[in-house]
Amino acid sequence: MYFQQDLLRGKSALVTGGGTGICRGIALALAGVGCDVAITSRKREHLEPTVDELRRTGVRAIGATSDVRDPAAVEAVIADTVGAIGGIDILVNGAAGNFVCLAESLSANGFGTVVDIDLKGTFNVSKAALPELKKRRGVVLNISATLQLLGTVGQSHASAAKAGVDALTRALAAEWGPYGIRVNGLAPGPVGDTEGVRRLTTPASRLKIEEQCPLGRLATIDEVASAALFLCSDAASFVHGVVLVIDGGLWLRSARAIATD
Ligand code: HXC
Repeated sequence: MYFQQDLLRGKSALVTGGGTGICRGIALALAGVGCDVAITSRKREHLEPTVDELRRTGVRAIGATSDVRDPAAVEAVIADTVGAIGGIDILVNGAAGNFVCLAESLSANGFGTVVDIDLKGTFNVSKAALPELKKRRGVVLNISATLQLLGTVGQSHASAAKAGVDALTRALAAEWGPYGIRVNGLAPGPVGDTEGVRRLTTPASRLKIEEQCPLGRLATIDEVASAALFLCSDAASFVHGVVLVIDGGLWLRSARAIATD
């Protein structure tokens, strides 16, 4: 509702992990401003309801089951996307996996699995999409998080992966800017009504987060999606290589408690 209805009409987007959560919200927001959208998920049941919703907005939409860890499967998704919606102007790398586990209890495979999905998956899809992005002077938006900005207990694997995603955003911005491709990151803090918050918090810890947050609450999916629309549109035509934190200022003041009265 903050953007012109035809802001991205005629454009095509691929959103990995777009069947659920934040990336479903981003996919719907893109469709809401006229963008054709392809979404991916490892699970077909995560795709079909969202593809139906996308199509109800009047845009072309497809869903592809695919694991971003598998470069061959990723190549197939790029081909399917181009076949169905004509190309890729916008790539949103949102596919992620996470769980809470202390480093001392985490297996090498547990650590590696999250790095493989979040970080290597972002690389795999970006690299496979590059030829299409070059053709259209496209945009890449990498979804990371805020847990890597501090020492987050139980999140060594996800923090390492997301810090890597942020570093990849900057490196690809430097390499791909000359092709006319903008690369940015979006780093949401805790977002209400998402699998991430359900997995990583308890009702009591959510209350603590709300108390700590300068804006006094969790983000909504729509707020993250609005920031994504900004970064994916020409409104951000000179915004490049940044990671935009969307957390109501939460990470800035985590655990700081200086008496003021
Ligand atoms: C410890 C665990 C574990 C857990 C899995 N592993 N879950 N270790 N605690 N809770 C270990 C396994 O034992 C195994 O290691 C290794 O990780 C791989 O597990 P698999 O189940 O075989 O992997 P896979 O089927 O590929 O599943 C990937 C997954 C899973 C990440 C582990 O949770 C998943 O599919 N998640 C997708 C949905 C999801 O996570 N959504 C939340 C995203 S939220 P061993 O050594 O036993 O072989 C998010 C936002 C973060 O990312 C930011 C929030 C603020």
